[in-house]
Amino acid sequence: FAQNARIKIDTDRTIGEVSPLLYGNFVEHLGRCVYGGIYEPGSPLSDDQGFRKDVLAAVKELRPTIVRYPGGNFVSNYHWLDGVGPERTPRMELAWSRLETNQFGTNEFMDYTKMINTEPYFSVNMGTGTIEEAQHWVEYCNVKEGPYFAELRKKHGYPDPHNITYWSLGNEMDGFWQMGHLNAEDYSKKAREAAKLMKLTSPNIKLIAAGSSNYRPEADPNEWNATILHELRDVVDYIALHIYVGNPSDNYYNFLSTPLVMEQRTKLVKGMIDREMDRAQRGDRDPIYIAWDEYNVWYRARTDESMQGTRALEEHYNLEDALVIAGFLNGFVRNADVVKMANMAQLVNVIAPIFTNEQGMFKQTIFYPLALFANHVRGTSLDVFVDCDTYDTNEFFIGLGESTTTQTDVPYLDVSATYQDGEVVLCVMNRHKDKAITTDILSQQGNFSGNFEVYEVNGPDVKAQNDFGKETVKTVKKDNLKAKGQKMTYTFPAHSFTMIKGQLK
Ligand code: AHR
Repeated sequence: FAQNARIKIDTDRTIGEVSPLLYGNFVEHLGRCVYGGIYEPGSPLSDDQGFRKDVLAAVKELRPTIVRYPGGNFVSNYHWLDGVGPERTPRMELAWSRLETNQFGTNEFMDYTKMINTEPYFSVNMGTGTIEEAQHWVEYCNVKEGPYFAELRKKHGYPDPHNITYWSLGNEMDGFWQMGHLNAEDYSKKAREAAKLMKLTSPNIKLIAAGSSNYRPEADPNEWNATILHELRDVVDYIALHIYVGNPSDNYYNFLSTPLVMEQRTKLVKGMIDREMDRAQRGDRDPIYIAWDEYNVWYRARTDESMQGTRALEEHYNLEDALVIAGFLNGFVRNADVVKMANMAQLVNVIAPIFTNEQGMFKQTIFYPLALFANHVRGTSLDVFVDCDTYDTNEFFIGLGESTTTQTDVPYLDVSATYQDGEVVLCVMNRHKDKAITTDILSQQGNFSGNFEVYEVNGPDVKAQNDFGKETVKTVKKDNLKAKGQKMTYTFPAHSFTMIKGQLK
């Protein structure tokens, strides 16, 4: 670079409040996420209730603010009554070809959310389930006493209601792979009636519509999203979107640009939401927000064998995957006005930041950027000016089965910033594979002062992985950066994610 790159921070240029729910995860009855993941009764590593203590400690470090449950594709054939009370009903699990014992269900999950101090988020079965079954589940969870299902919960040892606020109306209902798949009109009708019963049962719940997840060339995701937003605008609070990206042709720079696709889709759906808000003149209610309630890197464990059974979707992550996650998180913060929830899919073993075997666990590379965001990034998202070199990609697939994209002017530095109580947190991912980028960080309002904490996620090369007993990629706390006045200069190493945090007043 002829001159230093520049990042300008202006605390007057705000985007919106960062929702704490951006740092969520997802627990699905799939592979070893529940059984052998968070829950393994009889293991010497588990507590009296069967929860793996080593996993619990790692989850607490990750600090998920909201956890979605119990699926995913699983939920479209899940009947919640099978998983409560003293008698559990084993079932064929059709989404991922397993036997589901139902030993773990609503109450075990709620116990877990209390242990990790997180917000529960339930998904109801809009596939093979009925609207009445969804209403019964809300009654079981949220009604204090009186009606049959509330009393049943009490009989099961839970005198107080679980008070679950967040409920999604099905999962990926536009996908042909979904059990009970519907077209947009039929989904909207069913979801609307389910919403009616659920809200009459528990008026303060927040409802999430199943937005499009089908970005295959033959699909029309925009049509699906526009239709359901139009039909459900009066009853839902969020629209759920999903994105999985990969690097099947092993092109680092293409892959590192994939989170920008999430931002393009966010802007498109935001436009659709605004149109519906305008049509509905919904000024007196909260607007509809976007919940990216499934996102991650997922492509290696997508062969026929690795998609099924008890060891399904066991992806092993490397540094470039962790950088993509940092890109997603920066992207959510940059769209903080409309993206108010995000859930990394999933929590343990299944395309997840934590990986176990019977003897222990390790933290995957993607654990580290998520933990840094969850522990530090709060407050107001700032509209940051970034001046650095850029690159263009060639045409590529963002995920297996999806249509292709081309990205132009991808900045080597991917940046977000938040501001709260005189403290600024700057998150910078350097996409450059070989070059460190020396950058002037300039304040447009007030002075930087004191010691800035610096955290870095990096590794020896972009393919570096962690494993049992081997933490090659992790967060390293660097020397503090001393700052005074309106300018700091920092050199962001090649293929790294850096968080810088300190006073700006
Ligand atoms: O997270 C894995 C699967 O991906 C989920 O079950 C489904 O919703 C999505 O297709």
